[in-house]
Amino acid sequence: MRMRKKKYLSERLAACESVCLGWIPDPVHASGNLCTINAESIFGRKAPLHLEIGCGKGKFANTIAEREPDIDFIAVEQTPNVIVAAMERTKELGLPNLRYFMGKAEYLQNVLAPDSVERIYLNFSCPFPKTKYAKHRLTHKRFLDIYRELLPDGGKIIQKTDNRDFFAFSLESFRENGFELAFVTDDLHNSEITGNIITEYEQRFLSQGLPIYYLEAVNKK
Ligand SMILES: C[S@@+](CC[C@H](N)C(=O)[O-])C[C@H]1O[C@@H](n2cnc3c(N)ncnc32)[C@H](O)[C@@H]1O
Repeated sequence: MRMRKKKYLSERLAACESVCLGWIPDPVHASGNLCTINAESIFGRKAPLHLEIGCGKGKFANTIAEREPDIDFIAVEQTPNVIVAAMERTKELGLPNLRYFMGKAEYLQNVLAPDSVERIYLNFSCPFPKTKYAKHRLTHKRFLDIYRELLPDGGKIIQKTDNRDFFAFSLESFRENGFELAFVTDDLHNSEITGNIITEYEQRFLSQGLPIYYLEAVNKK
């Protein structure tokens, strides 16, 4: 049974080839020379590039790409049996401005050039509550150093989370590692922010009546 399920996943992934840029080369999946992508040739035009890290099943990525046709989007996710649903939806919608990388954010510099990304979305990233796993939080210094290289001066990160401790950790991490906080709220859905796209996880937390924490951090080079 397990074997059949796995085979089915590889067939589904193979069927999404047209929207998938492949694996981000890492110590496991690296093959040949590393070289960064050329977004202009992938999307066939010159447009601002926005990135979502940890896109899950892709509700946010597909909705925003459809809503903002003048922006090109790349969504990244490390779990194949989740990202496959996102890619299938993109194919179904026929979105020309959304493509995917499978793999870990840790290795994004292997595929994306410095200053090439104007905005990064971090939607409900795993909070890793235990201190010993803090370095896996997507707002830990080791990730912010990567984002700072990918973003130009003035490039923005937008983060949403339901987790108060993770939010407090992120605020401090952004402040200490070269970002300026441009907007912060501890209740997104009762704030001045309009046009919010509700993600799969956000829907879950909202139905439990939980507030959503939100911030915008600007890269200062
Ligand atoms: C809690 S889920 C949120 C999914 C979606 N953004 C949402 O809001 O519904 C976090 C996702 O981030 C992915 N993720 C966590 N760490 C990652 C990393 N280092 N690189 C790429 N993806 C990662 C996980 O596999 C998971 O699918």
